[in-house]
Amino acid sequence: MLAIVGCLIGLSYAVPYKRTFKRYRQIKEILADLESLRSHPDYKEGVEINIEFFRMLRFPLGYLWWLLFRAPRLRRERARIVELADLPFPRWQNVLLETLSWFEIWMGRILRPIRHEIIRELERLKKIKTEPIVVASFGCGGMELERQILYQLLRSRFDFPLLIIGVDYSPAILDVITRKFANLVSRGMLEIETISRLGTEELNELKVRAAARRFSIVLFNTDALELQDLPEDSFDLVYHTRLRHHLTVEERDRLDKLAIHLAPKFMELDDVFSITGIILESIFIWRFPVVLNGGILSYLRDFSKKELKAQKEKGWQVDIYSKPLLCYLRVHDKAPPAPTGNAGNQ
Ligand SMILES: C[S@@+](CC[C@H](N)C(=O)[O-])C[C@H]1O[C@@H](n2cnc3c(N)ncnc32)[C@H](O)[C@@H]1O
Repeated sequence: MLAIVGCLIGLSYAVPYKRTFKRYRQIKEILADLESLRSHPDYKEGVEINIEFFRMLRFPLGYLWWLLFRAPRLRRERARIVELADLPFPRWQNVLLETLSWFEIWMGRILRPIRHEIIRELERLKKIKTEPIVVASFGCGGMELERQILYQLLRSRFDFPLLIIGVDYSPAILDVITRKFANLVSRGMLEIETISRLGTEELNELKVRAAARRFSIVLFNTDALELQDLPEDSFDLVYHTRLRHHLTVEERDRLDKLAIHLAPKFMELDDVFSITGIILESIFIWRFPVVLNGGILSYLRDFSKKELKAQKEKGWQVDIYSKPLLCYLRVHDKAPPAPTGNAGNQ
């Protein structure tokens, strides 16, 4: 425990003064925004949780007190948790998406399990499809995963039309994504468009346009749960990363059912609740209050290893990775498992 206090104090004060000041000023601005939403009936409880979090985050000892006495209670009552990014502040959503993308680049391994699986699935689909491959990324955020996938596909000379539909209700995504893919767009390797409706007709039109291109990204600014009217298997693959913990228990169930309805294959990546993860994030992202808020509060909302075991028992394919932080990949495949070589001998 002493080591954690030492590291937090060291990180908050030993870093250049300017950065410490910037961090403190950012927390002050966040607190002012939260205060302005305090009387709003829809956000009251979430605002209180966040005001307490950011007040404590100003000083290492206050934050340590919060970790020791508040975090365990919030874990027990996790359905109540709301992160700063879940509140209607596009400015802070933008900061979160930018810094999260940076974090995902810096820690390249944290998206690796799902990136590998998606690319493997795209290679498989390429061999059997005649129309463009259509994948949907729910809660796509800043699309760092998609950036990594596209660069890997370019390197491996993947030459089949691919349409990625990013669904996210945050108004901040368009800015972040346009900046992120500016290089590929300016070199004619990718086209990005936004849509305001997605039905069967619109999807068919998108496929026709995608057939004439190599890679296309379509952004749909909406709640993923709004896609429920699309017919079964409208997409070839549905996936989401670090989205699940933002949903209520009832929404999580609905989104699972929807994802399974919308594609033959569904993949989900998120973090696993772990005390080591909370300590490591507290130390290493101390300087980034918005990401720390998202990181720690989402850890408190995440599946534990025991809960993931229960998911396996319900028939989900679940793998846990620890590279370097614990995360899991949960997969649902409608296709029957391939017969094994010695099946006939049994
Ligand atoms: C923590 S960010 C993760 C972004 C990205 N998937 C990643 O891993 O970097 C969660 C994203 O999910 C979005 N989101 C949360 N609930 C959503 C919902 N019901 N429908 C669509 N997007 C949602 C948020 O706006 C946010 O961009």
